[in-house]
Amino acid sequence: MDYSLSEEQHLVQLMARDFAKKSIEPFALDWDKKKIFPAHVLKEMASLGFMGMMIPESYGGSNTGAITYSLALQEIAYADAGIGVTMSVANLACEPIYKFGTEAQRIKYLIPLASGEKLGAFCLTEPGAGSDPSSMRTKAVLKDDRYILNGTKIFITNGEYAPIFIVIARTMEGGGNRGLSAFIVEKDQPGFSIGTVEDKMGLRSSSTTEVILDDCIVPQENLLGKEGDGFKIAMTALDSGRIGIASQSLGMARACLDEAKNYALQRKQFGKTLSNFQAIQWMIADIATHINAAYHLTLHAAFLKDLKEPFTKEASMAKLFASESLNQIAYKALQIFGGYGYIKDSKIEKLYRDARVTTIYEGTSEVQRIVIARETFLI
Ligand code: CAA
Repeated sequence: MDYSLSEEQHLVQLMARDFAKKSIEPFALDWDKKKIFPAHVLKEMASLGFMGMMIPESYGGSNTGAITYSLALQEIAYADAGIGVTMSVANLACEPIYKFGTEAQRIKYLIPLASGEKLGAFCLTEPGAGSDPSSMRTKAVLKDDRYILNGTKIFITNGEYAPIFIVIARTMEGGGNRGLSAFIVEKDQPGFSIGTVEDKMGLRSSSTTEVILDDCIVPQENLLGKEGDGFKIAMTALDSGRIGIASQSLGMARACLDEAKNYALQRKQFGKTLSNFQAIQWMIADIATHINAAYHLTLHAAFLKDLKEPFTKEASMAKLFASESLNQIAYKALQIFGGYGYIKDSKIEKLYRDARVTTIYEGTSEVQRIVIARETFLI
């Protein structure tokens, strides 16, 4: 692997950093406190090409590739992880239509999603089907030339603001994962509604909702791929999504490091700054080392994706390591702040809360270990 960034990758990284510093970072604590979804910021990010970074320009994307996507997402998440997950899921929602959609579906749905004109969402999880999506109960029944969908999806990122949803539903009873199919569902379709809007511990500038499908009518031409392809379509999307969450975790980890480092350089106890104490130096050393390792794992997964090589295992390794590291890093960074880190309205307190979900969503750490072990044993 060539570790140097191309000129274009470096430019996009700087552009994302500059944008995040001016348009996100100064407002992030307020959005968190008031639970504000800053739609105008997402529009600006769309104009920078951040919503369809792995999609060709002919379908509305900016076609910068997975490495550049990771670099940009790290910068956005550094400033606010809530905007980071919104961007990550917007990119994730493009992938199934690009890979499995018909030309008509790509023109109708992918172009507005990848250009960021419309926000996308991905509906897999249900109350009884989290780590085990093959046990899902949402049903899709074909009647004449349309599917009728019934069921409830939960924890749907972008739920309130997305007009286009990728929904996985069961088309064959008793078929396990082979009985699942994927659909493109528009929020205006009859029988579609948003249920509970979640009040989350962190990522409060992002929207997380229930999606209720009550005899929701979906035209037959909105089936993605073939009936029975739903599980594979979801897993393929999540492979890329996991590079996104690893990148989001990295951005937050770097923010924790900068916060802790700057505090340790100015806070004095026993007549010297905290940075002079070996206990603090070791914490900072561990944080920096984990960030470096997570960066290389994440870029390696992105590198393989850009080469069109298999990257399932590497994406799971990157997501597992970056998210678990982030949670240790946030713990240590807050420890360096002492009591001040426990008080609201500090960036480190927000980072500590934002970090927690990264080992849970888009596959828990336990699921990542299943994927890595199976790929390693080839079982
Ligand atoms: N790509 C393509 N196909 C894949 C695949 C992949 N990455 N992984 C599995 N498959 C295929 C397998 O080849 C297999 O195909 P065949 O039946 O033809 O042999 C089929 O899918 C079934 O695979 P498994 O036997 O491995 O399936 P499993 O039921 O044992 O599940 C699992 C494996 C890894 C646990 C999987 O269920 C999983 O990843 N679970 C976690 C789900 C998840 O991440 N949920 C998060 C939802 S999104 C979210 O968090 C919200 C948000 O908006 C941020």
